[in-house]
Amino acid sequence: MNDVFEFSNRHKDLMARDEEYVLGWRYEPQVVFERGEGVRIFDVDGNAYYDLSSGMMSLTLGHAHPELVETIKDMADRFIHQSAWYSNPWCIEFAELLATTLPGDLKVLNCAVTGSEANEIAMRMALGATGGFDICSMVRGLHGGSLAAEAMTSVGGARRRGLGPLTMPARSNCIVPAFYYRAPVDDPDQWDEISLRMTEELIEYTTSQEVGALMLEPIAVPGGMIVPSKRWLQGIREIADRWGALLIFDECQLAPARTGTFWGFEPYDVVPDIVTFGKGLSAGFAFCGTVTTPEIAERSRGTKGLPWAGTYSQDPLPSAVALKQLQIVLRDDLAGHAATAGAFLEKRLAELTEKYECIGDIRGRGLYRMMDIVTDGKSKEPDAEMGEAIRYHAMAEGVTMIVVKNYARICPPTIVTEAELDDIVGRLDTAIARAVRGEPVPTNLSNSSSLATNDGAKRG
Ligand SMILES: Cc1ncc(COP(=O)(O)O)c(C=O)c1O
Repeated sequence: MNDVFEFSNRHKDLMARDEEYVLGWRYEPQVVFERGEGVRIFDVDGNAYYDLSSGMMSLTLGHAHPELVETIKDMADRFIHQSAWYSNPWCIEFAELLATTLPGDLKVLNCAVTGSEANEIAMRMALGATGGFDICSMVRGLHGGSLAAEAMTSVGGARRRGLGPLTMPARSNCIVPAFYYRAPVDDPDQWDEISLRMTEELIEYTTSQEVGALMLEPIAVPGGMIVPSKRWLQGIREIADRWGALLIFDECQLAPARTGTFWGFEPYDVVPDIVTFGKGLSAGFAFCGTVTTPEIAERSRGTKGLPWAGTYSQDPLPSAVALKQLQIVLRDDLAGHAATAGAFLEKRLAELTEKYECIGDIRGRGLYRMMDIVTDGKSKEPDAEMGEAIRYHAMAEGVTMIVVKNYARICPPTIVTEAELDDIVGRLDTAIARAVRGEPVPTNLSNSSSLATNDGAKRG
């Protein structure tokens, strides 16, 4: 199996024990990591790999950022956990500073531990504030794995199989995505109009017509890095208004700064009613949340269990780390850096699209890009096995990346330099060449990706 990898006996022993005692999805080879520094992680043998998923898209400043390490040490000595029914200075300061990045009257924060929980708070807020019944989400959208968030998720695969009535009924995955690359018409403007019209009709016919919210990722990442036009997202705002529904943007994959603006929705001139965040704003700790206007917060207060407070939400240590990270992101203009370095990355990646037929398309913004792996550019048939082969060979070249089905994500920590990006794309080039030559890699999709374990893997 590991013909291109050489692991120590200690490493192999850890892999075997992991397989025996720990439940979890694992990519092949099942490398065990023990350290991170900047944009790289190191396995237990000391081999270095570029981390093209920023952990789980959470480490905006990379691994072991010295200022965050200092904050963590200071807070470990001072104050780790408290009752969520009291506050702390770091959370207050975080909420204030975050409000300065948001448009309109978006300013009040309800903390959560995970992105899923943040989205469920948003749904509670929408139902509480509107008295509505249905939450409408986008086909190919992902909002988390807790059961109500799972009900809003429709990225295909096995994740909802067998859950039956555990996923809530008051929902409709009915927003038709602006997925131009695989749209039935070639003209994006035409698809904007058709998909918006279909969305409106589906809302009318698949909901109770008492719609609490339309909820979507402004750029839907896991579902295929779907970057809509301004017209489309503004059209979604108009539909929400027509139905008296709130508009919720899930920014878990996008904020802060990664796409070249602080929020992913910024370039669209659309102001949502509720924004949820996780991952990149969490700095790798359990610090996620839901931001809304004082008016919506007041209208929903005392209903649906709001404001929400769990055991760990708003804890001082995660609050302080998230605050420090937010200060650094703004101080160092990481959004500007992501825009500039992202343009460089786009140019370098375009060379791969030219060179390899299996790279059907590369979509994204700033420092978050996704390769759409296909059998050939004409049919655009998703090729999950080639995606897996590319991921495997990238690992052998010292690059770890998340590949689900035919979608390969390029999401380095936002501090990555152009020199590092150059090196990364060079390594990807080698990896793709090896995969295309069909070098012997036993592909085991069931071991290597949660969502690829289904018959629909090829449908992407
Ligand atoms: C867009 C989006 N929203 C929400 C979530 C759920 O976040 P968490 O895993 O922290 O619950 C994810 C997770 O991947 C996500 O991609």
